[in-house]
Amino acid sequence: MTTHLKSNSVASRDVASQLHSQTNPSRFEADGPLVVTRGEGIRVFDDAGKSYIDAMAGLWCASLGFNNARLAAAATKQYGELGFYHTFFNRTHAPATDLAEKLVALTGMEGGKAYFATSGSEANETMVKLAWIYHTVRGKPTKRKVIARDRAFHGSTIAAASMCGLTFMHREFGLPISGFIHTLCPDRYRNMLPGETEAQFVDRLVLELERLILREGPDTIAAFIAEPINAGGGIIVPPAAYFARIQAVLKKYDILCLDDEIVCGFARTGNWFGKETVGLKPDMIALAKGLSSSYFPISAVVLSGEVYEAVKEFNKQGGAFGHGFTNSGHPVGVAVALEALKIYEEMNVVDHVRAMGQRLRSHFADMATRFPMIGDVRGEGLMLGIELVADRETRQPFAPELLAGQNFDRIAYDNGLIGRCMGDTLGFSPPLIIEADEIDQVADLCEKSLKQLQVHLSA
Ligand SMILES: Cc1ncc(COP(=O)(O)O)c(C=O)c1O
Repeated sequence: MTTHLKSNSVASRDVASQLHSQTNPSRFEADGPLVVTRGEGIRVFDDAGKSYIDAMAGLWCASLGFNNARLAAAATKQYGELGFYHTFFNRTHAPATDLAEKLVALTGMEGGKAYFATSGSEANETMVKLAWIYHTVRGKPTKRKVIARDRAFHGSTIAAASMCGLTFMHREFGLPISGFIHTLCPDRYRNMLPGETEAQFVDRLVLELERLILREGPDTIAAFIAEPINAGGGIIVPPAAYFARIQAVLKKYDILCLDDEIVCGFARTGNWFGKETVGLKPDMIALAKGLSSSYFPISAVVLSGEVYEAVKEFNKQGGAFGHGFTNSGHPVGVAVALEALKIYEEMNVVDHVRAMGQRLRSHFADMATRFPMIGDVRGEGLMLGIELVADRETRQPFAPELLAGQNFDRIAYDNGLIGRCMGDTLGFSPPLIIEADEIDQVADLCEKSLKQLQVHLSA
């Protein structure tokens, strides 16, 4: 048990009372929490008054920073008018209608519909259920399986976690459940074979997918799910030709394409949606995080007109769509999301993200000339990653026991910079409101931390 925490402090009471996500219980008991007390723009402050630039926007989500007054005012106004109402049984309210309309238009899914939920995991699970209805209505009820990719992250509920391609999401729970299968991750840096060209790599990825489909039986596969750029698996940008080629295979075997835009959506990759960045044309899109800048737990699925028609057809004898969450379309959530979208438009978010992303990327590229341990700099927009290696020439990773990535996070944190390592890939996904001088500060703190890491690793 922790002894260094002041008795009766938030930290010690928290250790005594709270189970935390993605946290090692014993280490947490020994170290205690980071108690965050307030936010200001891209910064957060702890209970000792120390300031940190949160260069991950929390969990890739607080796109408008940590104390946006307009979002707070939108929530307050909506609480005063209608603090709760649901969207079951034909009910609605104007903010939910406005947001649904807006999301269908923004995503370019004309003729489609928006469906609201409260978390990214729920949105992804909703897409799976919709895919099942779609195939059933078309006389193909055996099409049930979902193909995801190695190293994918799609959430924590049972189907969403099964779609993850990360063992730490599976090992305690006996996941994935049956019917959730995985194909190769399009990681150019790690998965291309020696001597293989990018075009040959894409050929191999496509062949692998087709083989999997044929092995399982095309009449058993409902959908393929992917993030345009894999965030949690280590900022993996696929080869330019990848999605067009993958989608041709999906079409051939009548498999729906599900686009998880939970991180990539709302300009994170330098376009309104990641699908534009990578040339993906999905049948359904899952949205969350940036949708409300995470000021309210809200998510959405935008489904194509064809998928919607299947739900209608299934229920034509009078049944009701058997799905829903109490807080689907919560009036305060949709009001906050509408305000967030208004702010994104006013700040010309796409251009801003491209400019700031370019600035951060060029800092990292410059650092790579000074730090041989930077093996790869990758990403798009304000979603960038640096992969650390023991040997740049051979791409040999650091020995796992050196915990290079974790040590960087610890050092950066001491320096007032919050990043997020995924193995030895350092992830940066700062609030989209970040300005040029703040980008420079992130780069300075990163460089300082890398220098200290170098000393630590060579000791
Ligand atoms: C790509 C992606 N999909 C889904 C999720 C799950 O979202 P939630 O935690 O809101 O359920 C996450 C969360 O980080 C994510 O990064």
